[in-house]
Amino acid sequence: MSSAPEFQWMPLAGKRILVTGAGSGIGRTAARLFRERGADLELVGRRLGALQATLPDAHHVPMDHADEAAVAAFAARCRPLDGMLLAAGELRPGSVEGTPTVDFEAMITANLRGPWLMAHHLGPKLREGGSVVLVGSNIALRAIADSAAYSVAKAGVHMLAKVLALEWAARRIRCNAIAPGPIHTRMVEARLAASADPVADLARLASVNPLKRLGTEAEVAALAAHLLSDESAWTTGAVIAIDGGADAVY
Ligand SMILES: NC(=O)c1ccc[n+]([C@@H]2O[C@H](COP(=O)([O-])OP(=O)(O)OC[C@H]3O[C@@H](n4cnc5c(N)ncnc54)[C@H](OP(=O)(O)O)[C@@H]3O)[C@@H](O)[C@H]2O)c1
Repeated sequence: MSSAPEFQWMPLAGKRILVTGAGSGIGRTAARLFRERGADLELVGRRLGALQATLPDAHHVPMDHADEAAVAAFAARCRPLDGMLLAAGELRPGSVEGTPTVDFEAMITANLRGPWLMAHHLGPKLREGGSVVLVGSNIALRAIADSAAYSVAKAGVHMLAKVLALEWAARRIRCNAIAPGPIHTRMVEARLAASADPVADLARLASVNPLKRLGTEAEVAALAAHLLSDESAWTTGAVIAIDGGADAVY
């Protein structure tokens, strides 16, 4: 008796997709999901070992996405792309009055200059019909205390997605931003580690949305995979909250 062939859903088959922040968290989980769904991958991050640990047989690009010379040099040798997930980012807490200017500039550099440079230099490498997903944040949709510079930078990321959707539409290239609520990655771990009461802080993070839990890397990766595939072909210029409904009830 022959067994039924295993079903494989491969909506990213044949697509060359670049992922920044691919050495950990959302970017790592997304890269692995894209591979399972058939994509050929370029993994970007500052730590080569972390990129290799994500997928040893992908193409690894150890690079700071905010270093223009490095991004331009990579773009000059990069083969044509069908998509990008720009997930690299960093969070430093603080209020407007309490944030040193150097930290403000670091937040703009890590969260906004990076995706801007990637779009500026790698946009010409995108094939017609391509798709780009920027990772913003739901705290760039709704103001919360103590993440001022990060929130402002991520709000810029949301507008960058809309501007790129307009500029790239003539080439049938789509661009969307996703705005996650708290996901339990090392970014949230670092925040909890600095908290006076991490247990209470974690419970508070989970309680602000109607579904009363943190999100998972896999849930964010699945949304990104949908936006990179042709099944979302009429979605562009959108900022999509993925936050257990927090944005809806604020
Ligand atoms: N976790 C959350 O609750 C949450 C919520 C909303 C939005 N986000 C966003 O989701 C994205 C992924 O974050 P995560 O939660 O998965 O945290 P993470 O594990 O800390 O991932 C951030 C990644 O960005 C990379 N990165 C940081 N600065 C970089 C730079 N200058 N150049 C190249 N790569 C850089 C880091 O890799 P290297 O250090 O190896 O370079 C790391 O792999 C970020 O944009 C974050 O702002 C996260």
